[in-house]
Amino acid sequence: MAGKIEFDKILYGGDYNPEQWLDEPDIFEKDIQLMKQAHINTVSVGIFSWSSLEPVEGEYYFDWLENVIERLHKEGISIILATPSGARPKWMADKYPEVLRVDENRRKMLFGMRHNHCYTSPIYREKIRAINAELAKKFGNHEAVLMWHISNEYGGECHCPLCQEAFRNWLKDRYKTIDKLNKAWNTTFWSHTYQDFSQIESPSPIGECFLHGLTLDWKRFVTYQTGDFIKNEIQAIRDAGSDKPTTINMMYYYKGLDYTKFADIIDVVSWDNYPTWHKLNESVTAMDTAMQHDFMRSIMHKPFLLMESCPSSTNWQSVSKLKKPGMLEAASLQALAHGSDSVLYFQIRQSRGASEKFHGAVIDHYGKADTRVFEEVTETGNKLTRLSEIIGSQVKARAAVIYDMENIWAMEDAQGPRNKNLFVKETLEKPYFALRKLGLNVDVINQEQDINEYQVVAAPMQYMFKKGFAERARAYVEQGGTLIMTYWSGIVDDTDLCFLDGVPYGLMDVFGLRSEEIDGLYDGEENYGRASAGNSLGLEGTYTCRNLCDLVKPTTAEVMMTYTEDFYAGKPVLTCNQYGKGKAYYICADMEQAFYNDFMQAIVKAQQIDVIIPEWKIPDGVEVTSRQGADATYIFIQNYGKDIVEVPEILHSRVLLGTSDGKLGQFETAIYAIS
Ligand code: GLA
Ligand code: ZN
Repeated sequence: MAGKIEFDKILYGGDYNPEQWLDEPDIFEKDIQLMKQAHINTVSVGIFSWSSLEPVEGEYYFDWLENVIERLHKEGISIILATPSGARPKWMADKYPEVLRVDENRRKMLFGMRHNHCYTSPIYREKIRAINAELAKKFGNHEAVLMWHISNEYGGECHCPLCQEAFRNWLKDRYKTIDKLNKAWNTTFWSHTYQDFSQIESPSPIGECFLHGLTLDWKRFVTYQTGDFIKNEIQAIRDAGSDKPTTINMMYYYKGLDYTKFADIIDVVSWDNYPTWHKLNESVTAMDTAMQHDFMRSIMHKPFLLMESCPSSTNWQSVSKLKKPGMLEAASLQALAHGSDSVLYFQIRQSRGASEKFHGAVIDHYGKADTRVFEEVTETGNKLTRLSEIIGSQVKARAAVIYDMENIWAMEDAQGPRNKNLFVKETLEKPYFALRKLGLNVDVINQEQDINEYQVVAAPMQYMFKKGFAERARAYVEQGGTLIMTYWSGIVDDTDLCFLDGVPYGLMDVFGLRSEEIDGLYDGEENYGRASAGNSLGLEGTYTCRNLCDLVKPTTAEVMMTYTEDFYAGKPVLTCNQYGKGKAYYICADMEQAFYNDFMQAIVKAQQIDVIIPEWKIPDGVEVTSRQGADATYIFIQNYGKDIVEVPEILHSRVLLGTSDGKLGQFETAIYAIS
């Protein structure tokens, strides 16, 4: 860790690949003029430039990059400088085949594609160290360079002999003795006991993939080893004397890595956001995107960067939909609304050949400014120039949803209670959507992050209770917190061994119940939860539930809602237990969104949880968020719904962005500053 993040402008721009146009210098000059016209102030360069920077082993050709950096600097455009490890030159793969990956079926990859590297290979590590050091020596203290973009979208895994060895060492370090490992993984099952660490192989479809302790630890190892690779890249830069901040660009709902583990390795989180806008109702997509923004922000609890987004349509989604007018601006401002200090695109100029030649760009093959996309990019850039005071302001959330990647891995590996689909993502989203609809900021955190500052914490499907989680959840409720948990929680420990003596393990007294059995429902099957008369939240009516129904036995919990169907009709669907100064709610079934909306609304009212705009019933499709600056609170109101909405009067506020008539049409945003 080093570099302090200090910008005086909202970073606006994106990935730029001038190395694809080196023999046409006019293009670069034209691009600069167009960038300035569009208010672009930052570009990311060098992301896939290794073969242009080191075309022959050990021979560095940096002149072209120097020219790019100097020219852009002269024009007031800043640089996010990438390290090139996302794709390697052919000579390297030929001379040192160990740098290429081996897949889970033990097939050695050929040269090609990108992200095709072994993150353990000492040679690959040495090669990236060498070029990073050269780049850092040459540009690492350049005034125009804002920060380091380490590699590109780390992901995937390698099963080569080097990685096997590293995995075994990692396991040795974790378990110390093979007996402890055997116990933790329950290897006596199907006679899989190991005698020695050297016998262990990474999971494979042609070998072992049902030993859940193994599959879970492998995923942990992949995160660890990727983190170690990132550290190696950053160390080279630091050793060469550059102190600029570092980031890695993360991906939407990516399950290959536990991103939260990188919080101590990089200086700022950034991510690449490509919503499939018209696939669902736009306001649903907006909410889904909002949750990813909040997850990214919560990794470090500070402003993040939107590193990539598309100015028009991508070319890799199943259908390449154009962004409707206004959508680009709405999506860009949404990032800001959730804590980003940048709006960056992939890409500035569309490439001429190969796989991304039809991917949307600020400047397309036509190459001029009179395009719909360019005009919208310019208009958005213009608006951002008015919002610089927002930079660095923090999103303060009083509500959190627990979204823990290790827990998700474990849940998805398990067989039963529903192998078709557990609807994990949807279940994590439901309370989030409900809280967001009420106009609260929401953090999206893992099980290890602190929960004490939140007024309400939703913890759906916490199948795995990681060490210490139950204790911290208990203390949180005891001291007055409101905790909401669901079915399929507290079932297994860190190594995926089932808890004995009852579940949710360690919290049965906090919830005042024990979960006895869980019923998987076929697709299309429904049950219903009916509110019990006189329940303490005043809930009324009946809601549908599907997929999973937990049968619980209350001890001290109040039964607030019961099933109406099947042999368990009359048993609880929703309970509440007073524990210490707080309340612990348990939702037994996969309830519909409408239930979560009403339930959360009742909780927010009962617990007097602060909403951003008190007294305003937020219309459907409208998002409200806020950021806290040193001198002002910024309130964002965005309309993703089809109807025009009336914006409430925000007293004593300055309008940073707004409408003349107090109304917001679809994809419009209003921003107020309250001092
Ligand atoms: C990713 C990559 C980019 C580009 C875009 C296309 O985010 O980081 O290099 O391929 O996707 O959408
Ligand atoms: Zn490897």
